[in-house]
Amino acid sequence: MPAAPRTAPHRIHNFSAGPCTLPLPVLEQIQSELTDYRGTGMSLAEMSHRSKAVVDVHERALQSVRDLLAVPDSHHVLFVGGGATLQFGMIPQNLLNGGQTADYTHSGAWAKKAIADAKAAGGQVQLAYDGTDNNYTTLPDPASQSSSPDSVYYHLTSNETIGGLQWKDFPHTQAPLVADMSSDFLTRAIDWSRFGLVYAGAQKNIGPAGVCVVIISDELLQQCNGKQVNYLNYANHVKGGSMLNTPPVFQIYAVGLVLDWLKEQGGVVWAQEAAAKRSGVLYDAISGSGGFYRCPVDERYRSTMNVVFRLPDEDLEAAFVKEAAAQGLDGLKGHRSVGGCRASIYNAMPQAGAEALANFMRDFAIKIG
Ligand SMILES: Cc1ncc(COP(=O)(O)O)c(C=O)c1O
Repeated sequence: MPAAPRTAPHRIHNFSAGPCTLPLPVLEQIQSELTDYRGTGMSLAEMSHRSKAVVDVHERALQSVRDLLAVPDSHHVLFVGGGATLQFGMIPQNLLNGGQTADYTHSGAWAKKAIADAKAAGGQVQLAYDGTDNNYTTLPDPASQSSSPDSVYYHLTSNETIGGLQWKDFPHTQAPLVADMSSDFLTRAIDWSRFGLVYAGAQKNIGPAGVCVVIISDELLQQCNGKQVNYLNYANHVKGGSMLNTPPVFQIYAVGLVLDWLKEQGGVVWAQEAAAKRSGVLYDAISGSGGFYRCPVDERYRSTMNVVFRLPDEDLEAAFVKEAAAQGLDGLKGHRSVGGCRASIYNAMPQAGAEALANFMRDFAIKIG
């Protein structure tokens, strides 16, 4: 029987903040290899994590992170379970639980959680910046920032996913920078001479949820106190080649495919340009709306990943989100803690998605008048 003609899958534009849209070629490759991984007669999801096929996938994905971000040998790349949330606690447990001090910047909802866990782990938190008064709509000038004399590290959230607020440049501090890059990882180059630790939950720019990328300098690793239970000790992950226990094999396989896809697009140079272009059309739609849409974030620090905006009232916001979804523009409701609207436009969001949304925004504003 002749093969049925292949029809394009039904796909909408998914603006969810994470988990979020993944590159279609990646999903199609997963689909084609799902039941028989490259002639093995098994799914990768069924294989031992110590098998050659899985170890190859694992090591290749780790190497791709290194390649894409030019991670030097001075830093270890790890896949760790537990999401970025585990890192909020794991970092201070390894580095502060003898009562040491670290600087933290309070830039919004995610920074707040990192700060709470640093305190819970027994660390002394110095607030290097507190955005409470401006409701987390701006950031400090990086040049104004320094670390405290006895600080082990200076923590920041490079992109506040809920607030739509992004550091464009990072402070030059005496203490190494530790950064939660969950929502803008792989969208710009990183100067590794300044970063002691970078972590990023996968489910935005890296792949499906279930794994967190952690990149730690050997220098910082040497300062870890090693007093944790096995899994929470970074040194054990490094010793175990990032396979201390059974890793989320299938997620890491998908991560590897996303990283291959990103390399084909042109890596982080491409990602940075594409993000500026995607976010640009949305911010233009906001600023060109005569005040109908409003972005509360300081123009200097507006995120290229999460574009947040308000409409004149909450009823209109609800109608906007509903009508957009009916037109295949999904996931535009702002985070429940802040309301409003949010378009998350990570690396896998095509330019056409941003343009379709910008057009919808214009049409909606005209219709409402
Ligand atoms: C900036 C940031 N940090 C941390 C997290 C928490 O990540 P996870 O759910 O992987 O623990 C998120 C989740 O959206 C995030 O956006």
